[in-house]
Amino acid sequence: MSLFSKKDIVNYIDKDIEVEIFDKIDSTNTESLRQLKKGLIKDYKIILAHEQTNGRGRIGRNFYSPKDNGIYMSIIIPYNDINPLVLTAKAAVSVAKSLEDIIDEKIYIKWVNDLIVDDKKICGILTEGFIDYKTDKLSNIIIGIGINLNNKNYFIPKDLENIIKPIDFDKNIDFSKIIADIFNDIILDYDFLEYYRDNSYVLNKEIYYIKGDKKIYAKAIDIAKDGSLIVINTQGETVKLNTGEISIRKL
Ligand code: BTN
Repeated sequence: MSLFSKKDIVNYIDKDIEVEIFDKIDSTNTESLRQLKKGLIKDYKIILAHEQTNGRGRIGRNFYSPKDNGIYMSIIIPYNDINPLVLTAKAAVSVAKSLEDIIDEKIYIKWVNDLIVDDKKICGILTEGFIDYKTDKLSNIIIGIGINLNNKNYFIPKDLENIIKPIDFDKNIDFSKIIADIFNDIILDYDFLEYYRDNSYVLNKEIYYIKGDKKIYAKAIDIAKDGSLIVINTQGETVKLNTGEISIRKL
């Protein structure tokens, strides 16, 4: 039994958009880029797969995407001046909100793109931009969302055992509704920062980030409106982090 269906997703979505579902594909983000290059996507679109053979994560990592054990989706949005970092942060809030009813524990957002439950990752988000070669301008944003679900015969490879956690769920859960809720929320214009701050995994924690070849220790103090993380480093400087990876310091 599939976790979601095109008919139901289209029904639940507030906008008239195209939804395409693949049984198996290399990566829904890669497929989005292929379709954009061919000029096949004119408006909003959602591309989903039941399995990815080359799921991609941030900084060149793989995203483990076993068959029927997750939601692997890319939301393609026409670019209209929204900072991609803001969209990524907003997407994290939308996914967290949509999963709140099926997860008992609090869902934390690890800046900027990971959702964490019990100190393990349940969802990752990879945002990519598409530059139209005719205009040489950013024309679309692809928000790739991967949610791990413990549906059937879920097997965690040894190297991921302490990092990811598939969500256990009741068999009556309507994942088509959850997918539609995520989309409806992402395109809604509202102040999502309060939720983001309340559910932050990093605020007020000691962290470190990498600058050049140096590890810089700092304390995370706020999330700015543009989605960047504000930290105070050990030299007492306030720094805005826009990209890259941060790690929580184990004290
Ligand atoms: C990360 O954890 O660094 C981001 C993971 C993003 C995974 C999703 S699954 C759907 C979409 N297609 C991909 O290849 N990646 C994203």
